[in-house]
Amino acid sequence: MDKFIVKGGNLLQGTVNISGSKNAALPIIASTILSDEKCVIKGVPLLRDVETLMQILGGLGVKAERQPNGDIETQVISEKNSVAGYDLVKTMRASVCVLGPLIAKRKYAKVSLPGGCVIGVRPIDLHEKGLRLLGADIDYQHGYLIARTKGLKGCNMYLGGTFGSTVTGTANVLMAAVLAKGKTVIENAACEPEVQDLTLFLSKMGAKIKGIGTHHLEIEGVKRLKGATHTVIPDRIETGTFIAAGALVGKNITIKNCRLDHLSAVIDNYAQMGVNVERISNTECRVRRVKTLRPLDITTLPYPGFPTDMQAQTMVMLTLADGISVVTERIYPDRFMHVAELNRMGAGIRKEGSYAVIQGRSHLSGAPVMASDLRASAAMVLAGLVATGTTEIQRVYHIDRGYEKIEAKLNALGADIQRVSDKVQSITDE
Ligand code: EPZ
Repeated sequence: MDKFIVKGGNLLQGTVNISGSKNAALPIIASTILSDEKCVIKGVPLLRDVETLMQILGGLGVKAERQPNGDIETQVISEKNSVAGYDLVKTMRASVCVLGPLIAKRKYAKVSLPGGCVIGVRPIDLHEKGLRLLGADIDYQHGYLIARTKGLKGCNMYLGGTFGSTVTGTANVLMAAVLAKGKTVIENAACEPEVQDLTLFLSKMGAKIKGIGTHHLEIEGVKRLKGATHTVIPDRIETGTFIAAGALVGKNITIKNCRLDHLSAVIDNYAQMGVNVERISNTECRVRRVKTLRPLDITTLPYPGFPTDMQAQTMVMLTLADGISVVTERIYPDRFMHVAELNRMGAGIRKEGSYAVIQGRSHLSGAPVMASDLRASAAMVLAGLVATGTTEIQRVYHIDRGYEKIEAKLNALGADIQRVSDKVQSITDE
């Protein structure tokens, strides 16, 4: 199990290029199950989650290979096996995205249930509801979800739950509806940029989808989808994480290949803290350190609200703000594993149910800490960069799931992060 040793206090400067979006790439790669033709996906980040999904596709008879130029090419070879097993699915919740394409194209899917997750309970009841409404029979047996259909039929559905819309649930239902007979209307569809990117890819494959980027999607089913080539959008959470790094320790950081239009809520809230995200164009910005950050009251919400995936990183900034801040988590009420670790570094955070009250302090102090999930790991790295002394972050395997070469990118800007291998095998749990 690798760990990071971060020496705090360096000011960062230079240019960083943002990688393609993990959460856009995963459902797009899964959706290639829907076509018999070759697909080419460009800009896919080199991440463990992507490799895991490619292995799952391999088991499902889809040849998915990374080309020397970084593109991922897929080609369905055989439709004999439609079972996605526990060993791989348990390491990555997003593997549930094969469910929609399998039931639509092969009329049968057996997908292991992903199991528990450190950021809280993550049910898939809305995925199930949508697929049932389209005409799938769903059964649970021995830890597997088994879906069967004689043929999916379009219908009208409302796809929302207690916490609002669902990102991968919308992706699954959408991927099933594109091959269903007739018209499907999804009300309260998730409209995250990653879902928009999937709808764009499906449209290139020949799917007929209206309402892209809205909560109301209309899908006219087609008989077959062709192959397509697509470049995934830049990762908005990686971009946000580098903006946070710039605000904390940036002498002058230029962030390239991003999409600032996907980060309006983050940029607006950071402006309230005193952070100026200097827009050079929609794909490039510059950020510098703010000596005195102002406190903030933020609530995470579905897009275009403030993203839950930026909550932990933003909390690091608030631990150093000049006053009391409140962070309310409306997507994953238990996503506060980083609180105790930040408090070990001298932060003043009190967690109450689904919100945290943060008393800003003058500094953080390096300490041994534990990375609990992907975004909390990024938060620990940011905390280590701004803290005095050395921070040792254990269990950084989480970060390798979602941030391409994070320590190399930060070190190129002047950070001092060393990866140390403990040579102990790990499993992921998110
Ligand atoms: C996606 O997860 C992302 N993962 C998450 O990113 C992200 O935090 C989340 O969306 C919210 O933006 C991928 O795209 C692979 P949801 P997803 O279904 O789709 C509840 C990261 O760090 N819900 O939109 O699983 C759910 O419990 C990861 O990159 C149901 O109640 O999230 C939550 O409260 C972590 N029933 C809310 O909806 C369901 O059937 C939103 O979850 C499904 C979800």
